[in-house]
Amino acid sequence: MPEIRFINGLKKFGETIAVQNINLQVKDKDFVTLLGPSGCGKTTMLRMLAGLESPTEGEIFIDDQCVFSSDRRIDVSPDKRDVGFLFQNYALWPHMTVYKNISFGLENLKWNKSKIEQRVTELLELLKIVELAQRYPAELSGGQQQRVAIARTLAPNPKVLFMDEPLSNLDAKLRMEMRSELKRLHLETNSTFVYVTHDQLEAMTLSTKICLMNEGTIQQYAPPLEVYNNPTNLTVADFVGNPAMNFIKTQYIENKDGIIKMESDDLSFEFTPNTPLTVKIEKGHQLVIGLRPEHIEIEENGSTNSSIYSTLPSGLETVIKLKINNTILTSVAFGGVDYEVNAPISTYFNSNKYILFNKDSRESISMGTIIVKS
Ligand SMILES: Nc1ncnc2c1ncn2[C@@H]1O[C@H](COP(=O)(O)OP(=O)(O)O)[C@@H](O)[C@H]1O
Ligand SMILES: [Mg+2]
Repeated sequence: MPEIRFINGLKKFGETIAVQNINLQVKDKDFVTLLGPSGCGKTTMLRMLAGLESPTEGEIFIDDQCVFSSDRRIDVSPDKRDVGFLFQNYALWPHMTVYKNISFGLENLKWNKSKIEQRVTELLELLKIVELAQRYPAELSGGQQQRVAIARTLAPNPKVLFMDEPLSNLDAKLRMEMRSELKRLHLETNSTFVYVTHDQLEAMTLSTKICLMNEGTIQQYAPPLEVYNNPTNLTVADFVGNPAMNFIKTQYIENKDGIIKMESDDLSFEFTPNTPLTVKIEKGHQLVIGLRPEHIEIEENGSTNSSIYSTLPSGLETVIKLKINNTILTSVAFGGVDYEVNAPISTYFNSNKYILFNKDSRESISMGTIIVKS
């Protein structure tokens, strides 16, 4: 069964390091997304796994077969890796019908006629494009073209499907629809998907595992909810989630009976860790408290010293900026609530998922509950 391993990967373009210290294992039937800002090395990584680019150093195994080794001078070409690709600019052959676009590759692989017919029919049904079989690409919408491109890629039953931002040319509504189609397709085809995106929501909703990258290195490789709830560092915490996590810079005061006391410019905090700290905190240490917007609850006419800074109702949810002294925090509430600017409210910090980061190393130290005093 296909399992991909990339060991000690490094890729340089001249003097530029595109990716480094890459150790990644993609398990059979995983849907892994490579996520990160533009230029962080996602495409380079995908192209190396697919065989379209040779690593400067490292080894790649697919299914226990070594397909690349810089030391042993192995470099198996893409067509011999039994993998499929789907890119942002999926060029369908304009002079061929949808049917022919899907069958053509199989004819080249010398499949017999009845097997080709059976496979194309299967794919037309799987991607819900049966009625489009005799049309030409110019007679299709963007989303329909994308489905044909996916069918064409899946036709020879590749062990692994590599996709590089395949939905970024589609409008928002279609992108949403294709996301759920891709997720369904992943289950129905029993394949392994490796998918590149810079869209954190896409990565959150689609993948079994997110490989979050920044400046050419892997920051965290874990299931989406773990990345969301338990980010390893400030970079990950900031990249995942919309609205973004709130960060408050604080100064460590003392650790009394397991309760960590801190102060920001205008607030004081008592943090109780759920689990032992991963590092010892010393006096004078600077810490950052991370609070997800959904872990800040508010109520009208409350007693604490907070007020509404702004509300952005979007129907399904409302993003609320609130002010405690001069600290502005983002909160989110389900549904359409509206508050008057400057209205007094009370703020609740009821979660046990607040995160403490070390400001200098940027690493997460602990997760826990918090008391905020204005
Ligand atoms: N063919 C190339 N020649 C030189 N530099 C490249 C080449 N391809 C990518 N790079 C560089 O490698 C880094 C990673 O690029 P890329 O993998 O395309 O990032 P992403 O897909 O995450 O946007 C960038 O700094 C980019 O400029
Ligand atoms: Mg890219």
